Amino acid sequence: MVVGVMGAMPEEIEPILARLQDVKKHEIADNIYYTALYGSLDLVIAYSKIGKVFSALTASTMIEKFGAQKMLFSGVAGAIDPDLKIGDLIAATKLCQHDLDITAFGHPYGYVPEGKVYVEADPRLLEIAARVAHERGITLKRGIVATGDQFVADPARKEWIGKTFDAAALEMEGAAVAVVCDALDIPFFILRAISDAADMDAGFDFDAFLESSSAVSADFLFAMLDAVDQDK
Ligand code: ADE
Repeated sequence: MVVGVMGAMPEEIEPILARLQDVKKHEIADNIYYTALYGSLDLVIAYSKIGKVFSALTASTMIEKFGAQKMLFSGVAGAIDPDLKIGDLIAATKLCQHDLDITAFGHPYGYVPEGKVYVEADPRLLEIAARVAHERGITLKRGIVATGDQFVADPARKEWIGKTFDAAALEMEGAAVAVVCDALDIPFFILRAISDAADMDAGFDFDAFLESSSAVSADFLFAMLDAVDQDK
């Protein structure tokens, strides 16, 4: 089975690539895709670059050009839920686009005709994640993740996103990957470790914790890959 493994930034996939052997490089669609065997899984790995457009392109390329049959995303997020602290893990139950706004036409935030406000992550992958967390004694929270093309460093904006979408965390790619995978019928799982609280300190915290939180997420992703490999 071919499994796509995505991050947005180099720091998010470096700890993943570091654990793989015989990694091959492919240049396609203005990006670099890495392939490697892990157990019996054929992995295709890439960082998309930041934001919804680049991450949609990468997810589509992994599915259409590399034949990815499942998609796992590993990276960092800003916390909205005050219970989420730096380094905590959250698995997205469903994802929405907080910056999608045609409310001028009477639609709810995050909605465009023929789309949906929330895209749900694959229940089987969420179940596997919960089992992996339980077996390893890791706390894995679940919640709604809101995506937008904005680095949020403003308590008022964060509060608005939290209230409007009932979101627990925010980032800049998950919902785009979700929309692509949903449209192409590919089960997906979006995992994030908290790097900041999307407040005034967010920029500073992000720089300070990007690497350590990316490593936390990558560690869990590997445990997921083991379980997915076993699950076939
Ligand atoms: N990813 C991690 N922290 C973030 C933030 N504060 N805003 C948007 N994306 C993020």
